[in-house]
Amino acid sequence: MHYSISVSGCDRTVICRDSDSLLTGLLRSNSRAVPAGCRGGGCGICKVRITSGEYEAGPMARCHISAEDQQKNIVLACRVYPRSDITLEVVGKLARRFNQAA
Ligand code: FES
Repeated sequence: MHYSISVSGCDRTVICRDSDSLLTGLLRSNSRAVPAGCRGGGCGICKVRITSGEYEAGPMARCHISAEDQQKNIVLACRVYPRSDITLEVVGKLARRFNQAA
């Protein structure tokens, strides 16, 4: 299955396979709308908030994503797989820079 991924403040929508993380799907489409670091859940740089859509989350280090964050749909884009069309916003350390660039 393929789903549409939209990043708040960014005009472009990309298509992501359900087997790819949101970050992988964005990078595969040459989108730089979300900051990318380790791509393995270790650095926390790809923190986003899912504003609409269904997803499946893999393990995420509590030092980056608290249980409270997860309840608010704040996740690591490199650890989340789409299960429907997704809309998200960048909320991590680089959110200001990325949201201004979009
Ligand atoms: S890119 Fe490092 S945690 Fe996602």
